[in-house]
Amino acid sequence: MNVLAINPGHNGSAALVADGKLEVYIEEERMSRQKRDGNPFKAMIWIMNHYRVDTLVICGTGSEPEHHSLPWTGENSYHALVRKFYPHVNVISFGSYHHQGHAAAAFYGSGFDSAAALIVDGCGSMHNLPNDDEVPEDRKFSFLETESIYKCEWPHTIDEVWKRYGGNSGPRIDESHLDTDAAITTVKAYEAVSEWLGFGPIEAGKTMGLAPYGRRDEKIPDLFMEETLRGDKNVFLPMYPRTAYIDSSRYKYLDNRSDIDENGNTLWHKDKSKIRDVHKNMAWKIQNDTQEIMCKFIEKAVDMTGEKNIVISGGYGLNVIANAYYKERFPELNIYVDPICHDGGTVIGAAKYVTHQMDKEQTIEGKDPLNSLYLGPKHEYNFDYVDNYIKVNKLEDTVEITETTDAEVAQLIKDRNIVSIFHGRSEAGPRALGNRSILYDPTDPNGKDFVNTVKGREWFRPFAASILKEHAKDWFDMKGLKETPYMMYALEVSDEHIGEIPAVTHVDGTCRIQTVSKLDNPPYYALIKEFHKLTGVPLLFNTSFNLGGDPLVETFDDAIHTLKASKLEYLYMPELGKLLKVPNTEEDNG
Ligand SMILES: [Fe+2]
Repeated sequence: MNVLAINPGHNGSAALVADGKLEVYIEEERMSRQKRDGNPFKAMIWIMNHYRVDTLVICGTGSEPEHHSLPWTGENSYHALVRKFYPHVNVISFGSYHHQGHAAAAFYGSGFDSAAALIVDGCGSMHNLPNDDEVPEDRKFSFLETESIYKCEWPHTIDEVWKRYGGNSGPRIDESHLDTDAAITTVKAYEAVSEWLGFGPIEAGKTMGLAPYGRRDEKIPDLFMEETLRGDKNVFLPMYPRTAYIDSSRYKYLDNRSDIDENGNTLWHKDKSKIRDVHKNMAWKIQNDTQEIMCKFIEKAVDMTGEKNIVISGGYGLNVIANAYYKERFPELNIYVDPICHDGGTVIGAAKYVTHQMDKEQTIEGKDPLNSLYLGPKHEYNFDYVDNYIKVNKLEDTVEITETTDAEVAQLIKDRNIVSIFHGRSEAGPRALGNRSILYDPTDPNGKDFVNTVKGREWFRPFAASILKEHAKDWFDMKGLKETPYMMYALEVSDEHIGEIPAVTHVDGTCRIQTVSKLDNPPYYALIKEFHKLTGVPLLFNTSFNLGGDPLVETFDDAIHTLKASKLEYLYMPELGKLLKVPNTEEDNG
């Protein structure tokens, strides 16, 4: 039984689960080359054309017939596509179960027998409340899922036990396990602060990167109400589903009009001298307050389910500072954070959940815990492909190709060259784990500024590192973790090594790390090992192989385009033992 699920939302994605096993996960932006591309037609068709598909599950955040409808027939575009081109495929709508999709992705990925799933995101599916058939539809109010707790049991139980909704208007509606109000909730408040800082609402990662520069500031008003854990509506203006704003007209201290130039650009994003304490302290406060609220939700999940296994998903799961904090606060719990916890990942949960629901005879044996994020399409790049690509595209004068070894590439990095690496299947989710990465020397004191400039990122944003797994506990406070292969935690550099890796050490002494074992990724492990031999430092500076604002590189063609469009010069293909160089032109250096 092969189930393909797609997510038409702002993280358009597709995943195939074949007989209960996750085979492939792709985001539309990697294929279409448009950041956060919404409708996963390319991803869906690619899977349809490469695998047998029995059932298509359409995820999203609403009931789909009224969305994506075609002119004339009014038919949903995905249904029409399947009817015309893949008529044997059965179609199921999963649009009303966004949080359940997150919960299933986290639960099945964890490998636990049972767990409580805590889902926290900007907003999930829209539900019309109250849930009472006797209330006419025009007397109901639209609310959006924002925080949920599910009780999960292998193989097919993902039951909602508590849910909190948000909305722009509407009354409190009392239903047994629902908490409904036109309220600002955790992630909406984070989005409002991100907007106020001049980022997009889904660029919360930038706010998180700024937070460690700040400190407690009594001049900032309270953001949340202690009793209800809801955002204070004196501070926040909700604009569900898209975003929320801070009502800075009420608070002189939060007036940020002078931070913006005539083109609407925030001055301090590019010019560090223009940042003010209030920016840094506001980022600190939203980080601090929301991670405390998350701890209260974790306690609630334990109380309501009696579980010690807690799985977390939804966009807030990408908060690597908070993820490390839970480990400190709850050493007695087994907390698993879903690495594909953004909306794209709901397809994995939905495909698995539907598979197990359909498997009435329980023929699927064995769980399929997530054991790799190298889930992208299998591209075949051999010597002939590369040679042919250079010839066909007439790049003989632009691209220099030489034979190389891990030792030579390690030396190149030690000599403070930026080297991109490209091999194997691409990584799922918003991170690079050594297959589509840009690598650099973590010991360079100017490394952060240098690479931020080359990538076109803001000056304050930190970088991650990939460390040989066996050295992780010597270099970082692992907070009881044996490994962190998916870069889900920001961990403190150990006292013994503090100061040795300034390019990847954030202002608070932490680094978001990926532990790498030989089993996880042999070519990447071998390269880091050579760097260790050469320098005594068992880790590499690792950032995603893309330029600021671009999707991650997916294909060899994308890689070459990225080198040509930037100051990046080197591309290492370890499986071929090849180093490609695209020398910078005067314009690049310009
Ligand atoms: Fe979500």
